[in-house]
Amino acid sequence: MSREQWTAVDRYVTDLLVAPDPALDRALATSAAAGLPSIAVSPAQGKMLHLLARALEVRTILELGTLGGYSTIWLARALAPGGRLVTLEAEPQYAEVARANIAGAGLADVVELRVGRALETLPQLAAEGHDPFDLIFIDADKKSTPDYFRWALDLAHPGSLIITDNVIRDGALIDPRAEDPGVQGMRRFHELLASDEAFVQRVSATTIQTVGSKGYDGFTLALVTPAGEGR
Ligand SMILES: C[S@@+](CC[C@H](N)C(=O)[O-])C[C@H]1O[C@@H](n2cnc3c(N)ncnc32)[C@H](O)[C@@H]1O
Repeated sequence: MSREQWTAVDRYVTDLLVAPDPALDRALATSAAAGLPSIAVSPAQGKMLHLLARALEVRTILELGTLGGYSTIWLARALAPGGRLVTLEAEPQYAEVARANIAGAGLADVVELRVGRALETLPQLAAEGHDPFDLIFIDADKKSTPDYFRWALDLAHPGSLIITDNVIRDGALIDPRAEDPGVQGMRRFHELLASDEAFVQRVSATTIQTVGSKGYDGFTLALVTPAGEGR
């Protein structure tokens, strides 16, 4: 099977199940026009994130990696009434594009966008004593995923769902000799999920491979459990 076929199937599914949406379409168009990389989640993946958030009736979401705000809009629209989403982005130019897209989707009052490297903005959030988040979506630089997951755990509560994107990396996840820092980050992340005491005690996780218009990759879903009830 080829990437062309995955993309065609993704298009088929999207045409039937993901209704056209001016704000989301505009977010992709303005991101492309501004030269942002085409690395947002696919429409089908965006809707999956939205459905998970809606099913869990989440009131607070933390997102790491905003890009042009595409996944942000999908997620923020799933919030229960009165809900809030905080999204973290390192690149000021991307953040500017995202801010306009989020406002265009009517979500400026719901979404707080913090510009800066997540390893600096996450400790700030924690120091402010921010309420724990119901759902956390980790989708920033891949090499730092183990560190992001540790922060996510600090900012979560039992029952929170932590979703991490791009964990399969074209299958390179299983290559112990992989030199790509992103692959190494995802290998380390899985090793920690399997054996780090703090992780093992506090989360029950699995990883799902995906194919589609964004290639061969996958998500890790981790449910935060009461201490000692992980795995
Ligand atoms: C895969 S993209 C996010 C895509 C977005 N979640 C979506 O699906 O629409 C990753 C983003 O993380 C940002 N990023 C990279 N390193 C970062 C860091 N240290 N802190 C915060 N954001 C970072 C990149 O600038 C990029 O916008």
